[in-house]
Order: sequence, then C-alpha cells, then structure tokens
Amino acid sequence: MCGIIGYIGNNDAKAFLLDGLEKMEYRGYDSSGISVMSGNKIHTFKKRGRLQILRESLKNQQDVSGFVGIGHTRWATHGGASDINAHPQNSQSGRISVVHNGIIENYISLKNFLLEKGFKFISDTDTEVVAQLIDFYYKDNFFEAVKTAVSKLEGSYALGILCSNEPDKIIAAKKDSPLIVGIGEDENYIASDVTALISKTRKIYRLEENDIAVVKKDKVTIYSNAGKKVLDRDKDCTTIDWDIESVGKGNYDHFMMKEIMQQPKVLKKTIDSLIKNGKIDFLDVGLTDEYLKSLSKIFIVACGSAYHVGVVGRYVVEKLAKISVEVELASEFRYKEPLVDESSLVIVISQSGETADSLAALREAKKLGAKVLSIVNVVGSSIANESDYVIYTLAGQEIAVATTKAYSCQLSVVYILALYFAERFKSISDDDLSKYIAELISLPDKLELILQQKDELLEIAQKYKDISCAFFIGRTLDYAVCMEGSLKLKEVSYVHCEAYAAGELKHGTISLIEKGTLVIALLTQDELFDKTVSNLREVKARGARIFAITTANHRSKINEVADDVYFIPECLNLMSPVLSVIPLQLLSYYSAFLRGCDIDKPRNLAKSVTVE
Ligand code: G6P
Repeated sequence: MCGIIGYIGNNDAKAFLLDGLEKMEYRGYDSSGISVMSGNKIHTFKKRGRLQILRESLKNQQDVSGFVGIGHTRWATHGGASDINAHPQNSQSGRISVVHNGIIENYISLKNFLLEKGFKFISDTDTEVVAQLIDFYYKDNFFEAVKTAVSKLEGSYALGILCSNEPDKIIAAKKDSPLIVGIGEDENYIASDVTALISKTRKIYRLEENDIAVVKKDKVTIYSNAGKKVLDRDKDCTTIDWDIESVGKGNYDHFMMKEIMQQPKVLKKTIDSLIKNGKIDFLDVGLTDEYLKSLSKIFIVACGSAYHVGVVGRYVVEKLAKISVEVELASEFRYKEPLVDESSLVIVISQSGETADSLAALREAKKLGAKVLSIVNVVGSSIANESDYVIYTLAGQEIAVATTKAYSCQLSVVYILALYFAERFKSISDDDLSKYIAELISLPDKLELILQQKDELLEIAQKYKDISCAFFIGRTLDYAVCMEGSLKLKEVSYVHCEAYAAGELKHGTISLIEKGTLVIALLTQDELFDKTVSNLREVKARGARIFAITTANHRSKINEVADDVYFIPECLNLMSPVLSVIPLQLLSYYSAFLRGCDIDKPRNLAKSVTVE
C-alpha cells in the first residue's frame, strides 16, 4: 500500500528514485512522484497514472538533478488519484516535502488547526497536513520540527521528509507502516520494502515503532524510545541474502506466471525446512508441551488469501488435532471483542507480515492474554517481530499482486502445524502421521505434473473467456479452495465470481443460475463426491455450464455431468487443496491474459495492505 523511497549520496537521485519506485509499483500504482533537492530548493514532479507517465514527463525537465530525493507510488486513500493528490506533498512555503504511507486519522482536526493559523491547502490528502504541520513547527531545527509534528499524529505513517533549509539529510519516521533504511557506500536510502534497494545494498535496518531516522549520506542516526544510536552497518543491520533474480520476471511475461511456476520449488523448500528425516522439526519455533497442554482453543486470523489458508487450516487442525479452531477475518476479529484468553493460541497468517488489520488483530490477541504464532513470508516484518512464535514460509519475494506461491507455502505450513499438534496431543497414530508426512513430501512433484499440463487450462480459459460471472462450488476443503479460486479469478480478470458451499447454493443463490452460467466445481473429497454431483445436476437442469476439477477415479461419473473436467493427480483427500488450487490459479491467469487485463497490477488493488 503505497511505496516510499529516498536517496542521499553522490549520484543522481532521480534515476535511483524512479528505479526504486518501479520495483515497488506493486504496492500501489494510481500515481507517483518525486522531490529532488537542487542546492537549497526542492523540485517536485508528480503525475496521475502509472510510473511510466511520470518517467516520460521527466525526460525534458532541466531542474531534476540533485543528490538527495524522495519518491512515492500511491494507492489512494484520502482524495482520488490526481496530480495534485499524488505525493510528495509539500508545505505551502515549499520548505518541507513529504511522502507518506498510512492514514492520519486526526488529519481533519490538524487541518483546522493549521487553517486557523493561516495555512492554505491545495490537495484532499491527509499527507499535505503532515507537511504543513512540520513546517509550522519548524524554527531552525528540522529534526525537532518532525519530532514535534509526529507526536501530534494519530493513525499510521511511514514518512520520508525533505527540508530545503537542511539539504544534507532525509528524515524518516515510522508508526504502524513498514519502513527500512538501507546502508550503502557513501550513500544511504530509505524504502518501504527491500525490493527497491536490493540492487544497491544488502545491509538494511528495519525501523521500529515510533523511530525517527536522520539519514545523511555518511551517517544514519536512529532516535527511538530507547534513545539515540548511530547505525553500525555490521552490528545493527540485517543482511538480505535474496537472489537478485527474484526481483525480475525471468523468461516469463508476468510475475504471476513466474510465481505459479516456482511453486514446486518453494513448496519443497518450505516443507524441507520443517520436516527433517521424515520427522517434524519445530525446535526453532519454541512451542513447549506444557504450553500446548494449556490450550483450549485455536484462532486463525488473516486477510484475503491468507484467510482462505486459514479456512483450510480449520478443517485440517480440527480433523487431525481434535482441538476447536475458529477462523476469523482480521478486520472483524480486531473489533468483535473475541473470546480470547491465555488458553487460546492465535495463529496469524500473512505473506507480507505488514497487513494493518492482521497486525492490529495480533496486538488485540496479545492484549487479551493469548500467545501469537505467525506464519509469515517476510523475515523481520512487523507481524514476525511482534509474535511469540514465528514460522517462515520460504516462498521468496512475491511480486504479482495476486498471491500464488505464498498461498501454497502457507498451506503447507498449516498442514505441518496440524500434524505437529496432532502428534503432541497424541490424536494421531504413528502410521497415519508417517502417511501424511510422506504425502506432504510428495506434493511438490505432483504439483509439477499439473504445471506441465498447464496448456489444458489455457484451452478451458479460451472457452470461457467471455463470461461475466462464475460460481465456484465445493464442500468442506473443496469449498475452502473455491473461496481462493473465486478471489483469484475476480481479482485478475474482473469476472464477478462467488464461492459457495455446494449444499448452500439452493438457499437463494441458485436463482442467479441461468442458461450458460459457468459453475466451477471442486470434487476432491471422495466421500462427498456424490453429494456435490447432485448439486451439479441441480445447476445443470437450470442451464449452467460446468467445469469440474476432480481425480481420475471419478472419470466416468463426472463426465456424465460436466462440460469440461480437469483431473488433478491422486493424493490423500485431506491434502488435495495444495493441488486443486493450482488449476484455478492457472485458469485465472489465462482468463486475465485473454481478456487483456493488467495481470500483475490489477485495478484498484495493492499487494501490501498497510491501511485498515
Ligand atoms: C492483499 C493481497 C492478497 C493478500 C492479502 C493479505 O489483499 O492482494 O493477496 O492475501 O492482502 O496479505 P498478507 O500480506 O497479510 O498475506
């Protein structure tokens, strides 16, 4: 949700800022802008639309050269996407320039305060208020002005700030939105995300809550609750060991396809990190038997696709570990006064580790006395940092807005966790445990088989490319995967989709089925196969076209009712979600491709949702 970048050094700031913004465009892409310091003057350029438009507009600008600058790529919250509302936002004197990620909740009262002091505003943004407020408090010390101004802010912010009176520094401040400082050779950086810096430095420092950083080209000073420290490159910084290739598309047209195809590899990597020599190895996680015995309930809390992983998790943990599980949307959980206490374990699932609602739910759970275990992809992210226990998915950097490989890796962790609980609670026999572990280990190869046949999904997508709506139906685990399949298709191809528990369709929604309506059905649970087939007959009788996903043992029965069928490799029913989601990901990708959609950056979306 909005990408922030900043540069200070001896090289051209503009080139660095634009390249960095390009890497972070997935965080928001409705407008972008930069401010560059030339001597003692701040020059700001910003444009509605994709970064490319800003790039073009800068080609003939003379006064964009300078060695200090900040940039922003926006996902609009306050005020529509326009040149004026794009960041950076400057104070009316032109002395202060600000890029911001987050929401200032008390911006109206601050704005009224400033209006009374004679300040005039030109944008609809909460960020302009921040720039004016810093200017208001500026006497002769930039740092003091920022410190006073941020103490007045309520809400969330990651800020990058320039002051024309002190051109030798960028000031960065963070609360509830991610922000990192990168340490280079005679140059330093700020960014929302490692991706933007990786071509320049591997040494990064993640700002903590309420930190203010004064970033000069040869020195970074962090002012925190704990006091003041000058960053030591070796002592204080994390070294990022990502492969630089991970930030490019490789031989693929889109990140989404690259990431779909990476799944066998990253799934294996994630499974191998938690299963060693055929045994679950949770030593590093730190859960104790004594603590596990004290548990009466598990909550799984997440947003978006991570929530869908949680829905699978509920079925699997309850079935294997025989403990009650509730799965909740983080945005609901945080406000519903959940019945959580010391005997509850709250599992937070998040790819980015920065989703605002998930982070708030985590804090709420801890306040209520629960311990939090998070399943996170980004090392050192806020959710990982604030959790009692962390399990990392090893999906690597995911760039396409629609998640694929992170979802699969999260699923695998949820299975391993369920098996671990079952083992510790002695609710599973040794034979069954070994059988499930063996199946899990075999899943990456089975997934590879699906990817080898991906053209079959292209053919299906071609057949249905002009649909305007689709229903996904299935029971239990299949229903959980339908939720993800439906979200995937709607987010990248803009087809209106709904996921329904197959038995529930007839309670109202079947009224929407008419001649030609596409129903996508998942039938991977053998004991429920006939039940779902009956539901398919009901929709077929009303004219629906049916695309079914099942296993080959059901070939003859499914062929009688479905117009098209995709067979996933045989696997234990309980683990089918890891395989059945793959054709749905591919179908979504190809549908979006055939419909000419912007696959990696679907309209209105952002990958990392750091506002509530
Ligand atoms: C956004 C992304 C989804 C993701 C959700 C939760 O909506 O587009 O793909 O599932 O946020 O994100 P998280 O980083 O917490 O998994």
